[in-house]
Amino acid sequence: MFGIRHPIIQGGMHFVGFAEMAAAVSNAGGLGIITGLTQRTPDLLAQEIARCREMTDNPFGVNLTFLPSVTQPDYPGYVRAIVEGGVKIVETAGNNPAKWLPGLKEHGIKVIHKCTSVRHSLKAEAIGCDAVSVDGFECGGHPGEDDIPNMILLPRAADELKIPFVASGGMADGRSLVAALAMGADGMNMGTRFMATQEAPIHEHVKQAIVDASELDTRLIMRALRNTERVLDNPAVERLLAKEKALGANLKFEDIIPEVAGVYPKIMKDGDMSAGAWSCGMVVGLINDIPTCKELIDRIIAQAESIIRGRLEKLL
Ligand SMILES: Cc1cc2nc3c(=O)[nH]c(=O)nc-3n(C[C@H](O)[C@H](O)[C@H](O)COP(=O)(O)O)c2cc1C
Repeated sequence: MFGIRHPIIQGGMHFVGFAEMAAAVSNAGGLGIITGLTQRTPDLLAQEIARCREMTDNPFGVNLTFLPSVTQPDYPGYVRAIVEGGVKIVETAGNNPAKWLPGLKEHGIKVIHKCTSVRHSLKAEAIGCDAVSVDGFECGGHPGEDDIPNMILLPRAADELKIPFVASGGMADGRSLVAALAMGADGMNMGTRFMATQEAPIHEHVKQAIVDASELDTRLIMRALRNTERVLDNPAVERLLAKEKALGANLKFEDIIPEVAGVYPKIMKDGDMSAGAWSCGMVVGLINDIPTCKELIDRIIAQAESIIRGRLEKLL
């Protein structure tokens, strides 16, 4: 469907998914994805797509995250930049993308929608998405409010969906890939793991924080706002959690602005690791090095093959 060699996707990531990241993953045989909204305007996204095209001949995609926000981004402009840039794969996330599907599909663009539940996945299938990315409770970023881990979510999705889907959240290595395939997925999507690569265009402090952290080091924030996000623990996150505890159901977004608004450039570009809350998956517990994207993907495929031909074949 996507014209890629290996069934491995790099999910859209705010202030990580620049052209360098997407091109490195696509050059390694996976599907790299540029994060649309990290580019402040549609013109900047058009330039980022053009930059990525200079760095790879392989297919790559663009993520469009539909957020509930007071000032809506110029979505029609972003869609135009994608279409005119000749991008053929779009990863949508957040709100229902139905409104944008006709404008994408008439240009032969395949749409993969990110979902955190079976019911949302079925909705994505019903409105005509080509595939879904099923994000379990483990995932970095927004796991939704159902808290169903992939061990349950993936087989449930496989039982109900007719369109292909990839497993997302907690995926790191060949073991993850084989498990995802065994549970009915057609491939896997990784976020956090791709941040700890040589080519990820983010500060070394972030990569080191990922390598240093264990699976016990993520926290869930903003549950009271029904906008739950999994982030790496740090002093700003502890401050935020203390406010959440004190305010309970009365918590408002305004209360936590210092910890969540505008922090991504400070973290990802400047490496100021206590500037605020940033998305990070439990999979940090499985990340111990900073390989190139090619080393990572080759290693995943080699490990998957050896598990299938070794441990699993013994079961036959
Ligand atoms: C730093 C970071 C930023 C992210 N930003 C976005 C985003 O802007 N839009 C989106 O749809 N998903 C975003 N995600 C989610 C990823 O695309 C992916 O679904 C998730 O990381 C998968 O879980 P994993 O981290 O366990 O691999 C982000 C994840 C991380 C770690």
